[in-house]
Amino acid sequence: MFVPAIFIFLMNQKNILITGGTSGLGFELAKLFCKANYNVWITGRSLKAGLPEGMRLHFLRTDFADLRQTENVVKQLLGEGISFDVIVNNAGVLGPPSYTTTKDGFEYTFQINFLAHLLVNNLILSEHVPGKPVTLAIVTSPVYRVVDPDFRIPDGSKYFSYEMYSLTKHYLLLAGDYMKKKYNNQNIRLIKFNPGVFGSGIYRTKQNWFQFLYRIAAPFMRSASKPAGHLYELIHEPNLWENIVYRSKRKAGPASPVLTAEAEKFLLACEEAIKIVR
Ligand SMILES: NC(=O)c1ccc[n+]([C@@H]2O[C@H](COP(=O)([O-])OP(=O)(O)OC[C@H]3O[C@@H](n4cnc5c(N)ncnc54)[C@H](OP(=O)(O)O)[C@@H]3O)[C@@H](O)[C@H]2O)c1
Repeated sequence: MFVPAIFIFLMNQKNILITGGTSGLGFELAKLFCKANYNVWITGRSLKAGLPEGMRLHFLRTDFADLRQTENVVKQLLGEGISFDVIVNNAGVLGPPSYTTTKDGFEYTFQINFLAHLLVNNLILSEHVPGKPVTLAIVTSPVYRVVDPDFRIPDGSKYFSYEMYSLTKHYLLLAGDYMKKKYNNQNIRLIKFNPGVFGSGIYRTKQNWFQFLYRIAAPFMRSASKPAGHLYELIHEPNLWENIVYRSKRKAGPASPVLTAEAEKFLLACEEAIKIVR
């Protein structure tokens, strides 16, 4: 049977969703996947750089501080029949200087870095065609290792911004394992990535003095395109260990946190908590 070349081309096109794709690492990664002919969806509140011309890049305006709005955007997309081959959990903020809550009532960093991703992954994976391969990439940070998680939804009783950020990056890794276990009828490939330190807009939630120092240091820091290149390679690398946090294809970091029964219970409680606010 004759199959037109254009049909084969369209059939072979892959879809990737990158949360926090409007700047920094996410934006650099989006450009790489566009060049590789993927259809690329990026989330964020505003696309400062504009859409690069001639690229299949779609901007989904989402504010992760608003779970209902985030859910509506993702559901609308899924309703159009889009299914993803790759999901990159990348959006992130540093903890604000003092305890701050979203309109949904959760601590700000906790919701942006972790809860909103739990929601997005659940929405996508629950609709995903069973058996169709999907890569779930988790962008963590070197600091995921320096915390001793208490597995409690933050309530403001004790708040240290760096500890909060580190906790969210720890919980996000666990969320990857949790998704894999929960959707065990899906063909999920998990990638855990620690980008190291690089220059980006991540300082935006911090105090003025921090922003000032960051801007001085930024020209001497690695560009976001470096870790984006590493993550791009990792996503294309078929032979990775799922319990290892990678720095790059050649640098496999330490083992990731283990999804214990306590961690699972916590993730379940977080899912329940976000069901209530939605
Ligand atoms: N920079 C570093 O040194 C470093 C080190 C280790 C790990 N990381 C991790 O790397 C990832 C990317 O960060 P980056 O350094 O590239 O920072 P970035 O340039 O600030 O990018 C962060 C992304 O998250 C999105 N985001 C922030 N708040 C949001 C909200 N309320 N709703 C929706 N999206 C939101 C931003 O989009 P909008 O502003 O458009 O909303 C942006 O696209 C993060 O997970 C970060 O934790 C960074």
